[in-house]
Amino acid sequence: MLTFSRETYMERRAALAAALREKGEDGLVLFVGNVDACAQLKAECYRFRQDSSWLYYFGLDEPGLAATIDLSSGAETLYADDVTEDDIIWIGPQMSVAEKAFEAGVAAHEPASGLDKAVAGALASGRKVLFLPPSRYYNTMRLMELLGLSKEEVAAGSLPLIEAVVKMRLVKTPEEIALIDAACDLGYEMHSTGRDLIRPGVVEGDIVDKMDFIATSKGWGVSFGTIFTQHGEIFHNPSHDKTIEPGRLIVVDAGVEAKSHYASDFTRTYPSGGKFTAKQREIYEIALAAHEKAFSMTAPGIAYRDVHLAAEAVILEGLASVGIVRGDVPEMVAEGIGGLFLPHGLGHNMGLDVHDMEDLGEDHVGYDPDQKRASRLGLRSLRMARRLVPGNVITDEPGIYFNVGLIESWRRSGKGSAFINYDLLEKEYYDFGGIRIEDDVLVTPTGARRLGSRRLPGTPSEIESLMQKS
Ligand code: GLY
Ligand code: MN
Repeated sequence: MLTFSRETYMERRAALAAALREKGEDGLVLFVGNVDACAQLKAECYRFRQDSSWLYYFGLDEPGLAATIDLSSGAETLYADDVTEDDIIWIGPQMSVAEKAFEAGVAAHEPASGLDKAVAGALASGRKVLFLPPSRYYNTMRLMELLGLSKEEVAAGSLPLIEAVVKMRLVKTPEEIALIDAACDLGYEMHSTGRDLIRPGVVEGDIVDKMDFIATSKGWGVSFGTIFTQHGEIFHNPSHDKTIEPGRLIVVDAGVEAKSHYASDFTRTYPSGGKFTAKQREIYEIALAAHEKAFSMTAPGIAYRDVHLAAEAVILEGLASVGIVRGDVPEMVAEGIGGLFLPHGLGHNMGLDVHDMEDLGEDHVGYDPDQKRASRLGLRSLRMARRLVPGNVITDEPGIYFNVGLIESWRRSGKGSAFINYDLLEKEYYDFGGIRIEDDVLVTPTGARRLGSRRLPGTPSEIESLMQKS
């Protein structure tokens, strides 16, 4: 079953081919879907996840498929083998390749080996074969074999195709937005379930299991490994084996990948005992102000890089008000001081991947041709810097973190010493942890709207009143 109608996929492929022809391309466009990845033995594989660009253009959510689009003739061909007698015994009857091609609106189909002949034929007659950078090793090897290219050449992909695909997938259609809204509603449920279970004495993993169950039982699964940590200053803290202690802040960053494969990605930060301390509340309000500032600026035409910088300015202004930094805020932004407290980017694109299309190259996805990625801390991790257009789906996720290792490293090298009150940081904030607040946002023709039918509570008062009821 395809997520959208056959016509949608046919229209997307036609639009892609037209865009490539407009750029003067007349070769063969090659798409290789994912294959099963075996865990230990051939019959025991990891759960199959289709390649997202394949899903976008062909919709067929099964392993072992490839296709070509001939830009000269417009001919489309699906390549795959029909099931064998053994397959019928082990996995039961499957749709034939002819039926799959019909379902996706692809006119022709051939056995898998036909792909080798088609690509070899195109190369022999001097035609270009355009392909996307693969996200899986098997596909890397398959493309190396098909195209006679090195691993590095395969990893680079074909720029005109990457650019055309990114341009299309960056702008979500109303039917995609409806599915992202639905994924966000599941994300809301996942987060609410987790929040209501937080209390000192509970093991983190027991809560994560219940959150993840929402994702696996109502969606396809989690859109990334759930982050649930009392050390939010360490971003992808992967373990959940600690017991919740009183007085901590808990960063919960989690999302659902819906059955449609569209993602959600929210973050909230909770006081472990249901009530913020005065110091926690003070820093939380600064992070929330940065989050709101970013949302208020989100609109067509503005570069998300500038929104990141504005969020940083709000954070530095707030930190100045509590004595952690001192000096002129624009100067501090220019000096990159914000990177010490917000060492990640404000947000990323979201869609069929939680970090949408980053397998095609972060800069291809997140930077306009005239934008260059910065090298300084914080801004260098910004994955979405582009000027926004209606239909972009992005995250708004500023945070404030007190990472002792990072602070000490800056302090030792004297970095930022004119602006940063290192003594106060050491005295008051080394055991603070971190805060992040994240919503998923659609850029509309006139501004922006938060995705999902309900917004996760985010103000300290809302959070405290909910946690005290649970
Ligand atoms: N929410 C996980 C991430 O953005 O990396
Ligand atoms: Mn995110």
